[in-house]
Amino acid sequence: MPPTTPNPANPPLPKAELHLHIEGTLEPELAFALAERNGVTLPYATEDALRRAYSFSDLQSFLNLYYALMAVLRTENDFADLAHAYLARAQAQGVRHAEIFFDPQAHTSRGVPLGTVVEGLTRALDTAGERYGITTRLIMCFLRDQSAESALATFEAARPYLDRITAVGLDSAEVGHPPSKFKEVYALAREAGLKCVAHAGEEGPPAYVWEALDVLGVDRVDHGVRCLEDPELVARLVADQVPLTVCPLSNVRLRVIDTMADHPLPAMLDAGLLVTVNSDDPAYFGGYADDNFTAVRDALDLDEETLRTLACNSFRASFLDEATREAYLKEVEAHGRG
Ligand code: HPA
Ligand code: ZN
Repeated sequence: MPPTTPNPANPPLPKAELHLHIEGTLEPELAFALAERNGVTLPYATEDALRRAYSFSDLQSFLNLYYALMAVLRTENDFADLAHAYLARAQAQGVRHAEIFFDPQAHTSRGVPLGTVVEGLTRALDTAGERYGITTRLIMCFLRDQSAESALATFEAARPYLDRITAVGLDSAEVGHPPSKFKEVYALAREAGLKCVAHAGEEGPPAYVWEALDVLGVDRVDHGVRCLEDPELVARLVADQVPLTVCPLSNVRLRVIDTMADHPLPAMLDAGLLVTVNSDDPAYFGGYADDNFTAVRDALDLDEETLRTLACNSFRASFLDEATREAYLKEVEAHGRG
């Protein structure tokens, strides 16, 4: 989709984006430009033909395309260009802080060194404050459908870059790959001073959310919408105020939820869960951060105060230092109050 043009008369709410896969921001235009630059042939003749493939039946049907298109990402410049394109769109959508996932194994398995990925991304992220007014963090994800040994090898290979990495995460095909499979690598990450997050309860059962909490010791749960099937789990998440990074447009596109009007976001807020709204893979799911806010506002009839609560939650759930968090929370409070 084209970048949203900011409307100075009605700027979007300031917000943090905490669930965003940088590889999921690869728009068709950039995919074709990078394919040409790198001499890669895509299995689609045109951008329109590619866009027509964006119709998913479940998480795996999306992941197949997501991994296939990564073939165009080869050099430091490619990763820097990808991150710049995201940051420009995020800025137009009111994003003031972004905690960005990347999938090292999806690149190293294609012969792209981890250093190329990290150097390219950080080259762009290092300019984000000055160029886009956005603070950033990087979160390195392990692919849960790969082995525990592969995750451990990835973590060891990343040791030289840990000063640029804030947290580890867990993504890719969920069902059949419970969090407990990655207990050892999460223990190492925590020992190294990293924060921990994990996708759980998107397609997988509430038991996977319990494992993310009790076996991996996560600081946040990504998605987590299926927690609602287990009242004891909801009580635990509420008591500990464990943030959930919910992705509404993703949930509808991947058929986790039937329609936006059925989304359990209001029920989650009513239950006292610390819910945030995020875009996941915006190039594939039809919208960036503020597009997700607008989609839930319109379909679920959310009022301004609820949207403000969601924006505040996003900063509360972030890994920001307290002073920066407080400054952003003040921005939210001041927004639209003249
Ligand atoms: N779930 C799991 N893995 C992913 C996702 C997701 O929503 N997006 C990119 N990788
Ligand atoms: Zn995700």
